[in-house]
Parts: sequence; C-alpha cells; structure tokens
Amino acid sequence: MALNNVSFELPSGAIMGLMGPNGAGKTTLVNVICGFYKPDSGTVKFQGRDITGIPPHKVCRLGIARTYQIPQPFGELTALQNVAVAGMYGRGVGKSAAESEALEVLKLTDLADKKDVPAKNLTTITLKRLEVARARATDPKLLLVDEPAAGLNETELPHMLEILAAIRQAGVTILLIEHVMQVMREAVDTIFVINEGTPIASGQPDEVMKDKRVIECYLGEYQ
Ligand SMILES: Nc1ncnc2c1ncn2[C@@H]1O[C@H](COP(=O)(O)OP(=O)(O)OP(=O)(O)O)[C@@H](O)[C@H]1O
Ligand SMILES: [Mg+2]
Repeated sequence: MALNNVSFELPSGAIMGLMGPNGAGKTTLVNVICGFYKPDSGTVKFQGRDITGIPPHKVCRLGIARTYQIPQPFGELTALQNVAVAGMYGRGVGKSAAESEALEVLKLTDLADKKDVPAKNLTTITLKRLEVARARATDPKLLLVDEPAAGLNETELPHMLEILAAIRQAGVTILLIEHVMQVMREAVDTIFVINEGTPIASGQPDEVMKDKRVIECYLGEYQ
C-alpha cells in the first residue's frame, strides 16, 4: 500500500513541507491530490469541495498545479512556449495573452534569457526552474512542488527558495517536498512527515526535526 491513513490540512496561504525517506509515498500523495491516481478510499478536499477522482486537467483548472520531480517539459518547444502552453491549457487564456504572461513568469523564475531555447537544450538545473514556471503559469491557488532543490548546489538552492517565496508572497499556498533539512527549517511553516505511506510526525520544523521517529527513519536510510 503506497499510502495509508494519510490525513492532513493545509491552511490557505501556508507553506507546508512534506518529508519522508525515498519511497515514503510523497510523489504518490501529489499524484492523488492532482487526480493522477484515484485513492481506493478517502477524500481529497480543496476549498471545501470534494475533488477526489476528478481528472488532472480539471483539478488544474480548479487551481492546483504541480511540478514533476523529474522535469517533464515539451523538449521541442522553447522555454517560452512551454510556459505559454501551461497558461493556455491550464487556465484557458488565448495564445498571445499566454505568451506575454509567460514572459513575466520566465522573469520571475529567472529564465527570461532562455526564452527562445528549446527545452531539450536546457540543463537539468534550469529545467527545475522551468517546472516551477510552467506550474506558476496556470495561476494556481495551491502549488505542489516535488523536490525542486534536488541536485541544486549551494548558490542555486537559495535562488530556488527565493522564487518559491515570491510565489507564496503572491498568495499561493505551497506544499513543498524536500529532503534537505536546512531547506525545510528555513522555508516552511510546518512539516508533515510520512514513512512507508503512513504519517509519523507533523508540527513546527524544530519540533519535527527532534522527533525520534523522524530521526530514525532518516538515519535508517543513510546508514
Ligand atoms: N506506479 C507505481 N506502481 C507501483 N508502485 C509504485 C508506483 N509508483 C511508486 N510506487 C511505489 O510506491 C512507493 C512510494 O513511491 P513514491 O514515488 O510516492 O515515493 P517518494 O516518497 O516520492 O520517494 P522519492 O523520495 O524517492 O521520490 C514506493 O515503494 C514506490 O516504489
Ligand atoms: Mg518522489
């Protein structure tokens, strides 16, 4: 069972960290929230509405966007086109409006100089920002970010966190999946930890970091 009895609330405007060792079920949880997977039982509620089982494109139109742990751009399309497509299909805006909005989103994610580069020619690091740009372009109320910092170095990491902070400042609620403890401590209001598909801790970052079960599941992973 990939997820079992996972229950939590994410208040509007908050940024919550989702942690757990490899294979814990974090990406599966994102897939359930977005409608990629339908849970056998339980419900997903968004702004008071039951959205369980609604297909992903409709969930996106309701205001939930996600990024992929392994970037999933359209390789042949430029960075600008990738972001514009997200606006057109994720929000329903016309092509020219989507393109001018896409340029603003590329500026926000520091990708304006890459706007005409086909995604297949961008580095993995750059693609991590393009993932965030594509999701942002759908104008979400809730953004699910799956390991945006994985593989980033010490300069790139704060940059990514600044981008997410700016998105949050604009009123977007964020669920941030991340392994790096330092990121969690600095970037989120609360942390929710799952292991083997089951919740093991939740609360303020400092409390959660001290939790014996959290330490054990992470040490167990790295030993
Ligand atoms: N499509 C699938 N079919 C069967 N099992 C799957 C599938 N996707 C994931 N799993 C399994 O479900 C469990 C949870 O996987 P998931 O990808 O959600 O973990 P995760 O917490 O995101 O891990 P990571 O930190 O490595 O990204 C793992 O045991 C994984 O092998
Ligand atoms: Mg994952």
